Amino acid sequence: DKITVVGAGNVGATAAQRVAEKELAREVVLIDIAEGIPQGKGLDQWESAPIEGFDTRVTGSNGYEESAGSGIYIVTAGIARKPGMSRDDLLTTNAGIVRQVAENIARVSPNAIIIMVSNPLDVMCYVAMKASGFPRERVIGMAGVLDTGRYRSFLAEAIDVSVEDIQAMVLGGHGDTMVPLISYTTVSGIPITQLIDKERLDAIVDRARNGGAEIVKYLKTGSAYYAPSSGAVQMAEAIVKDKKRILPCAAWLQGEYGMKDLFLGVPCKLGRNGLEQIIEVELTDEEKAALRKSADAVLEPMALV
Ligand code: NAI
Repeated sequence: DKITVVGAGNVGATAAQRVAEKELAREVVLIDIAEGIPQGKGLDQWESAPIEGFDTRVTGSNGYEESAGSGIYIVTAGIARKPGMSRDDLLTTNAGIVRQVAENIARVSPNAIIIMVSNPLDVMCYVAMKASGFPRERVIGMAGVLDTGRYRSFLAEAIDVSVEDIQAMVLGGHGDTMVPLISYTTVSGIPITQLIDKERLDAIVDRARNGGAEIVKYLKTGSAYYAPSSGAVQMAEAIVKDKKRILPCAAWLQGEYGMKDLFLGVPCKLGRNGLEQIIEVELTDEEKAALRKSADAVLEPMALV
């Protein structure tokens, strides 16, 4: 009945607004360390309720008490990329922030589900899981939905079809090594390779891989937040409505895909209990090698936290 968003910056505030407009909870709490910011943004959003027609009460706070009993926490606290920075450049600063956030969540809402957004995503999931002491079912990372969203939107544009008809999955870590699965990309069930030539497809895969950097280059002062907040809220919706959706999410692997003890993007079934199942799909040798390489890129910064 209550969803909390930690970090009232670009991604967090937009996520709170989307949750409210979709009425995914009766109450949304925005938390941030910046004084006045979550209170001001929360009040502003609540004042849009009569106009937009939602009854979700949005409030803001600098503390965690108001969020007690939340079923879901969307964690977006931390610093974002600027031009020239990689996601890994955010590691030390954000690890300290996420550790403190996760401890507070565990203290006031011991049964909550955490949807991690802060970067570097896969490592921050690990920090949150350790600091909260939550089982893997309740710490899930958002990256694959966004990376897939980018890939799907570029494809829809290229072949001029509805974005909704494009099914796809991008696996692996949230970085340059992400693994778009071409063999599982379809347009209303039609394999994508029947609708676009290899050269154009490769260019789209490449653009999706660098989709985050493309936005950073335009914005200069920050990174993407409309599509990232959509991704986090889609995951929250799957959980709140117990939809059993299969979405690419960062999950703590325990032998799946031949890997253990790291967060990596894989197809996950999301429902009331959070991560309800990791779906293991067949991969080509090339995709397996790419996933392995992506895992290595996650393990390296993980050793530093
Ligand atoms: P932002 O700078 O607009 O907002 C971050 C907010 O976190 C600020 O309001 C700041 O005051 C707050 N904050 C800092 N320390 C805090 C603490 N200890 N407790 C509570 N709040 C705290 O940044 P933006 O654009 O919203 O991005 C947030 C994070 O999400 C970044 O790390 C960014 O890299 C990441 N991100 C991840 C994506 C993904 O696909 N997983 C996509 C887009 C962004």
